[in-house]
Amino acid sequence: MSRTWIRAAAGVAAASLLVGGLAACSAERTDEPGGETSSSDGSAAGSEMLVGIAMPTKSLERWNKDGSHLEELLQTAGYDTNLQYADNKVDQQISQIQNMINEGADILVIASIDGTALAPILSTAKEQDITVIAYDRLINDTPDVDYYATFDNYMVGQMQGQYIEEALGLADGAGPFNIEPFAGSPDDNNAKFFFSGAWDVLLPYVEAGQLATPSGKSPASNDEWQSIGIPGWGSEDAQDEMTTRLNSFYADGTALDAVLSPNDSLALGIAQALEGAGYTPGDGYPVLTGQDGDQANVLNIIAGKQSMTVWKDTRTLAERVATMIDEITAGETVETNDTETYDNGVKVVPTYLIPPVVVTADNIEDTLVASGFYSAEDLGL
Ligand code: BGC
Repeated sequence: MSRTWIRAAAGVAAASLLVGGLAACSAERTDEPGGETSSSDGSAAGSEMLVGIAMPTKSLERWNKDGSHLEELLQTAGYDTNLQYADNKVDQQISQIQNMINEGADILVIASIDGTALAPILSTAKEQDITVIAYDRLINDTPDVDYYATFDNYMVGQMQGQYIEEALGLADGAGPFNIEPFAGSPDDNNAKFFFSGAWDVLLPYVEAGQLATPSGKSPASNDEWQSIGIPGWGSEDAQDEMTTRLNSFYADGTALDAVLSPNDSLALGIAQALEGAGYTPGDGYPVLTGQDGDQANVLNIIAGKQSMTVWKDTRTLAERVATMIDEITAGETVETNDTETYDNGVKVVPTYLIPPVVVTADNIEDTLVASGFYSAEDLGL
């Protein structure tokens, strides 16, 4: 890919519109006739910058949106990009990152598959002075990650826990109810935060006897979350696990009142298992949580097969990362809003956290449609 700076003046205007808050940085990167670029101090800030973008998989709707939106923002702002998806295979992601380094990337944006597997390749990146931004998922056990941009992962879990708490009236003392909890992929650092956020709300009700788990798969503490993790966040694995629990512990008519699902891919499989076991939307259908706002899940919410999702507007995350890249390129201080929470085992990585939003059947139009994330037609509305 050519690394020539090809940004036209119109592109600057478009980028400033697209990337909220970038006006100041963009203004510094004034285009000269003939495509040359210079910053206000006369250096070639931003020119010939190559950004490598490593995404985990195309199999989940959100990562496709993340990747294509970030790529579009950066290209419009004049950066060269190399966007790769790794089919959820760690080795594939490492060789893609190696290729980006070989190609001369200046900045790497990485949504890791296994947050503990990238230390050696990031050490190679650091030797080449490449700035590394962890995207959505923290990269652990390495000093060579510079920034982290994500949604507030703990808050995602809290929102799921609070939704179940309210739907069942737990704070008013209602119960006992049956809940089946699930957790995300054991190699995903986020999954720990999602579970902790939810379990900090729900565990007191387990301990008070208001929530029971007939399958026994109820972690006694947040630290045991991996025992109920679904590797690779697979829908089919979640479906199989839910089917097994239903067949083994609910076939006698025991009521299932709630399922804590950490995200939409799991919720999709869980809803299918429920359907397979004869559950139909309406009274007696369990409360089912999710996360991401994937289209299939929003359709399930409309159909009454899922109760809520925690929507993470991937456009805002991509915009934040594009802002970070502009700040890095301009030699400015990179804005972060959390310098305490995300300790990767070697250092606390300066982080920008974006708040997520609860979406239920009642506010789909006001959130997902009003913001243009989906059109009304996408959702059959
Ligand atoms: C992301 C979620 C996503 C999950 C599965 C997590 O790291 O934060 O948004 O649903 O991975 O891809």
